[in-house]
Amino acid sequence: MFVCLGNICRSPTAHGLFAAKVEQAGLSGHIQVRSGGTGGWHVGDPPDERSVRVALERGIDLSHLRASQVSSRDFHSCDYMLAMDAANLADLRRMAPPAYPGVLDLFLTFAADSGYREVPDPYYGGEDGFQLVVDLIEAASDGLLQHIRRHQLGQG
Ligand code: 4NP
Repeated sequence: MFVCLGNICRSPTAHGLFAAKVEQAGLSGHIQVRSGGTGGWHVGDPPDERSVRVALERGIDLSHLRASQVSSRDFHSCDYMLAMDAANLADLRRMAPPAYPGVLDLFLTFAADSGYREVPDPYYGGEDGFQLVVDLIEAASDGLLQHIRRHQLGQG
C-alpha cells in the first residue's frame, strides 16, 4: 500500500505505475496494489488532473482510481506500508499495530540512488514537481519489485 497525504497526487501515481510494472512482469496474481491518504478530504475523488496528465505521458492511466483514507485495518492486509514523506510515515507509525510484521518505511528507501529521501508534495507547486514525482516513483517501483521478487517470491 502506497500512502501520501491526500491520495490524489503521489500515492495514486505510485499505485498506477507500480501496478503496471507488476502486470508487465506477469505478477498480477501474486501482488496486490492499493493506495490511501492519511487525510480524508479527497475520499472518493479521482487523482489530480496534473498527476493524470503526467502519468499518461508515460503510458499509465490513473483516471479510474478513487481516493481513500488509510486506516489501521490496512496493516492487517498489507505486507508493505510505504509512505511518500516523513509526515506520512509518522502518521502511519501512530496507526500501526505494535508488532506489525511487514515493511513500514519511506517508499524511496527502494530508490537508494535517487538522492531523495521523500517524494515532495507537488500539490501547491508547478508542473516540474509532478514530473519529479513520477521520476522518483519510477525508480522506487523498480527497486520495490526487485525486493518483492527476492524476499516474498523467492526469485533471484
Ligand atoms: P498528495 O498531495 O498527498 O500527493 O495526494 C496532496 C493533495 C491534496 C492536499 C495536499 C497534498 N490537500 O491539502 O488537499
